[in-house]
Amino acid sequence: MYNEKILNEFKNPQNMGELKDANAIGTAGNAKCGDILQIFLKIEDDIIVDASFKTFGCVAAIASSSIATKMVIGKNIDEALNLKNSEVVEELEGMPPQKIHCSVLAEEAIKKAVEDYKNKN
Ligand code: FES
Repeated sequence: MYNEKILNEFKNPQNMGELKDANAIGTAGNAKCGDILQIFLKIEDDIIVDASFKTFGCVAAIASSSIATKMVIGKNIDEALNLKNSEVVEELEGMPPQKIHCSVLAEEAIKKAVEDYKNKN
């Protein structure tokens, strides 16, 4: 079962939707479940000043995306690159083992978005 923190994050997701002035976008998918997660970042002078997400994913994917976007806002791009899915899970106070892969999507999409920014700059 999902814990209270995950359910709250799922019911009240933050930073949902496309960030209109994003200058970096990362997409990650899981072939097994078919879910897709897209992260939008607005980066100024290597600092993430805003972040949002769109997903075709499950409860755990939405909760992970919501909390991960909150975790990276204010970080520099290298700190964001080092964000581990285990930190996302920790912030969500745990996740059922069979759902851990959903948090991996958030980590991967953030990494891809930062790489997108690095490639453009
Ligand atoms: Fe696919 Fe959660 S089951 S992201």
